[in-house]
Amino acid sequence: MDAIHTRLAGIARQRRALVPTPVHELAGLPGAGTCRVFCKREDLTGFGFGGNKARKLDFLIEDALRGSCDTLVAVGANQSNFCRMVAAYGSANGLDVHLVLGGGRPADPTGNLRLDLLLGAACHHVDSAEWDAWEEEAAALERDLRGRGRAVYRMPVGGSTPVGTLGYVAAMAEILDDERRLGVRFDTIVFASSSAGTQAGLVVGKAIARWPGRVLGISTAKPGERQERDVFDLARATAARLAATVDRRDVLVDDSFLGAGYAQETEACREAVGLFARSHGIFLDYVYTGKAAAALLDGLRAGRFAPGSSILFLHTGGNVELFA
Ligand SMILES: Cc1ncc(COP(=O)(O)O)c(C=O)c1O
Repeated sequence: MDAIHTRLAGIARQRRALVPTPVHELAGLPGAGTCRVFCKREDLTGFGFGGNKARKLDFLIEDALRGSCDTLVAVGANQSNFCRMVAAYGSANGLDVHLVLGGGRPADPTGNLRLDLLLGAACHHVDSAEWDAWEEEAAALERDLRGRGRAVYRMPVGGSTPVGTLGYVAAMAEILDDERRLGVRFDTIVFASSSAGTQAGLVVGKAIARWPGRVLGISTAKPGERQERDVFDLARATAARLAATVDRRDVLVDDSFLGAGYAQETEACREAVGLFARSHGIFLDYVYTGKAAAALLDGLRAGRFAPGSSILFLHTGGNVELFA
């Protein structure tokens, strides 16, 4: 076990950013009974308003700098948390940043878009909700920038490449440390899953550490079967870089809290956002973490977690959207 931990910690050491994120117990959640629920504050990764993208970008930016790139190109929705973080990392590392953003250019930018502009990113708006349309525009932009002599590092939605995914392989080492420090064994990790990198990284980390718990992604973008396929493909590609293998049965996605689709609010999500804010002073968001928390609360109330089990909820950030 120690050798495995050392291997994961070695991956974690490549992380340049900041301190481990805090974990605290959420006492008194309705329906918890004898279950214990802990919250890992990935919203407090400590740079650029935080969130899960910091862990991915630690590896992605290092890769860009190693390849002598001078320009970052990223894609996402107008309120993309990932794009805001790319803008912050790029600016702090002296790189030009171009963002291809899905949605028209608003007259009065708010939330993440306002921060993108503050950080000096060039924003290219595509009036479409289709991820494929954004990626096509980004590919065209990359060609244009390369034609003008720029060394471009282009990242897909959510930074979910095998390189970015290493951030959440490394996070697993931190979670093992959390368990030791708190004297708890987590039975399930629950979190929002979308572009798949967070979940794929945890699944690879679980395989390397032979961690016995469940990694349960709550789909916030796609039907469960599709999301499981995307997570497994990315996990396999990431594991191959580390000479590890993953088991398809370890990829678990629940899509029951997706509602009408990506960024479509649900009643259960609104309830969860309100409850976390009012009971614990924790601000979630309506696109990702609110839906993951809705799944957590529903699972507790319905008795889907074994009595006496411990659950780790990842607050993956995203609450800048509350100001959108
Ligand atoms: C706040 C937040 N939580 C969760 C996710 C999902 O993470 P992933 O895209 O790695 O699946 C995202 C992705 O954009 C996010 O912004």
